[in-house]
Amino acid sequence: MGMKLGILTGGGDCPGLNALIRAVVKRGTLEFGHTFVGIADGYRGLMEPDLASPLTREDIRGILPRGGTILGTSNKANPFQWAVKEDGRWVERDLSDVAVARVKELGLGGLVAIGGDGTLSIAYRLSQKGVKVVGCPKTIDNDLTGTDQTFGFDTARAICTDAVDKLHTTAESHERVMVLEVMGRNAGFLALESGMAGGADVILIPEVPYRVEPILEKLKRRQDRKRSFSIIVVSEGAYPAGGSVSVASKAEDTPGRGVVRLGGAGKQLADALSARVEAEIRVTVLGHLQRGGGPTAADRLLATRFGAKVMDLVRDGQWGHMVGLQGREIVPVALQASTKDRKVDVGGDLVRFARSIGTCLGD
Ligand code: F6P
Repeated sequence: MGMKLGILTGGGDCPGLNALIRAVVKRGTLEFGHTFVGIADGYRGLMEPDLASPLTREDIRGILPRGGTILGTSNKANPFQWAVKEDGRWVERDLSDVAVARVKELGLGGLVAIGGDGTLSIAYRLSQKGVKVVGCPKTIDNDLTGTDQTFGFDTARAICTDAVDKLHTTAESHERVMVLEVMGRNAGFLALESGMAGGADVILIPEVPYRVEPILEKLKRRQDRKRSFSIIVVSEGAYPAGGSVSVASKAEDTPGRGVVRLGGAGKQLADALSARVEAEIRVTVLGHLQRGGGPTAADRLLATRFGAKVMDLVRDGQWGHMVGLQGREIVPVALQASTKDRKVDVGGDLVRFARSIGTCLGD
């Protein structure tokens, strides 16, 4: 007997969300006879009226290659820290009971929550309150525990690599040092892997606090070898040893689920280098281009596998779990209070190989 399932996407969008929604709805309707309710704008859709509507096979037609999310998303809407204005100022209140009541009111037999650390930890807390939830991990940062890879990462990595390639040609023509700042929050996967794929000379990641001297030496060595340009890929979360991460806006600037926004690491580095480097330095901040556009084939596949697997968890009553890639298999993984502490292994293969081919990591 089919049931009615809610589905929402929370946090920053990433390529592959629509592919996942499509797989959930297709397998759910074709194989199990479930019906779906699309909940708009992440958890906001459970807190405010009129943001939930039927999601049918008609609605998902043609969305597989499309970027973004047809359901909309929010990285501020947290029922446990809901922003309300009291006496003219914003305060956060735990209104999670509203979300729980809404799930009942909509007659949902279960909820599919697709998102990153924030969305999945809210899913965990809702499941502790009795809501039947299944999670799906996504993020371009690839920094979630419980899954070897998140979808969205492959696409973002390809976009960053393409940017490194493009910077190469103009760097070479003008004999410049090009600094490319990429996303990834406090994990260096995007910077490291796109930097290696694009052949960057210097790659700076949060896991390895950098010093200016080794970078200057690397640039000098290149100049001595008549390489008059250099490419530096810097993660937004990278910071100088003894210094701090560059922040674009603080948590308290955002009412509701306060999120620290990183940004400025590229400029911070360029400022530190400019007085000591002869060549001109230019900084490119790739920003949200990294999250835009359609997913790569690998991300479409991973998202589709995640989406189809969700239906196994629903069938088996494995609520309070998310799907994850472990080795070659998609497996159920228990939701946790936090899933965000996966970092680049600085003693691992990738870092070792990067060093072995002469890439400077700033240490
Ligand atoms: O987590 C995904 C991500 O793109 C990070 O890499 C980045 O720091 C952040 O989201 C940007 O957030 P926003 O879209 O709110 O600017």
